[in-house]
Amino acid sequence: MSFPANRMRRLRRTESLRALVRETTLDPGDLIYPLFLCPGESVRKAIGSMPGVFNLSIDEAMKEAEEAAALGVGGLLLFGLPESKDEQGTGAWDANGIVQQGLRALKASSLAKKLVLIADVCLCEYTSHGHCGLIHKTGDNWEVDNDPSVELLAKTAASLAKAGADIVAPSDMMDGRVSAIRTALDASGQTQTPILSYASKFASAFYGPFREAADSAPQFGDRRSYQMDGANVREAMREIELDLAEGADMILMKPAMPYLDVVRAARERFDVPMGAYQVSGEYSMLHAAFEKGWLERDRTMLESLLGIKRAGADFIVTYFAKDAAKLL
Ligand code: PBG
Repeated sequence: MSFPANRMRRLRRTESLRALVRETTLDPGDLIYPLFLCPGESVRKAIGSMPGVFNLSIDEAMKEAEEAAALGVGGLLLFGLPESKDEQGTGAWDANGIVQQGLRALKASSLAKKLVLIADVCLCEYTSHGHCGLIHKTGDNWEVDNDPSVELLAKTAASLAKAGADIVAPSDMMDGRVSAIRTALDASGQTQTPILSYASKFASAFYGPFREAADSAPQFGDRRSYQMDGANVREAMREIELDLAEGADMILMKPAMPYLDVVRAARERFDVPMGAYQVSGEYSMLHAAFEKGWLERDRTMLESLLGIKRAGADFIVTYFAKDAAKLL
């Protein structure tokens, strides 16, 4: 049947008709809100390149968490800015580290019932050189050492789980970290803590603003020897397959908007829960356009999130979590 018997516009006439035939929906519970914890009290330090995002001391983070919970946001993803950094990133697995303290505070409150607490597992916020693992340098040459880094990441994950993380999320892209983390969690009696692996994480320029927020820019070189090349979708599928074989319970795809084809490919191939991370640069560029008046804030924000869900993500990590939840 074709026109005039067939008229696609019939089902677009009213909002209730459109709602009836809508294929994809957004729910506040699908959104995960990242927070950057820092030492001190009453600290709420604005991030220049990310309007509306702050470094928060734990007391301030509790307020953000309360707001997020009241809006029905699904959970938090926690990052930390330690008091001091060193070559190894010891702040990452310190029982009194900044994220560990934050987790304990959140766990002790009623918020823990409403929000899933996800702890990012990486060393880059804690190392003086800003790389995601241990490095060794010979003259001008340097390398990130995989296997010793994996041990530290496993220790970090166990420490975060012990402090109260409901989920640990390794974002470092070292090989073999998922199985090492599973082993460390099980050995410390945390058999019920799931691993959300940043399985498909590309070396992306869109992380730029995050590195200001987390103070984690590499002091030399870049992350291309451990994060994936942006050209590769088959390789992303192998990364996911390997992480699942190592025991990942869920996967996270990152960035989102420039890699929606990878999200879709993963959705078609894997039946595990999958999130996508709308990263700092995606947020910042949209904000820049909102500020200029070039894009309409609310509609563009929701459309950017809907596109990620439509591509196949079950949940989305986004700095818009609270703003979007208010609109939904
Ligand atoms: C840590 C980490 C990064 C992001 C999440 N975890 C930065 C990076 O890999 O350089 C980026 C998140 C964002 O840009 O919003 N390894």
